[in-house]
Amino acid sequence: MIKKREVRKLFQAAKEAVEFAYAPYSKFKVGAALLTREGRIYTGCNVENASYGLTLCAERVALVKAVSEGEKDFLALAVIAVGKKGITPCGACLQAFSEFTKEMVVLYLDKEGKTKSEKLKKLFPHPFRAVLV
Ligand code: THU
Repeated sequence: MIKKREVRKLFQAAKEAVEFAYAPYSKFKVGAALLTREGRIYTGCNVENASYGLTLCAERVALVKAVSEGEKDFLALAVIAVGKKGITPCGACLQAFSEFTKEMVVLYLDKEGKTKSEKLKKLFPHPFRAVLV
């Protein structure tokens, strides 16, 4: 269970990160904040590109920032979008997180704006895994 104080801190960090969202094409601004077991927080925002397919999701930006600094153990990910509620990470992001953790929870706001917490493995129960034979 993530403490309420941590949940508040994560949403606050996601709100700060969304200010940097670069979304001139979709106008859909996303912010994410990722909590490690040691209590560090890594943030991300979406970064779009004129070549649309190169767009980076906020969640994966937070993930690669963390992993590239040696982090692999994650407890929670908070996601927000400007002016939108009920946003959960896309399947590609859920697959990317599934590489590192099963126990992580995803924190998001439901349609009424209430904080929701769902386990990654519930949102994405069957990630692709390379089977080594
Ligand atoms: N986006 C995210 O940042 N996270 C998601 O989980 C899904 C979508 C971004 C990508 C794009 O910049 C915009 O939202 C619209 O799809």
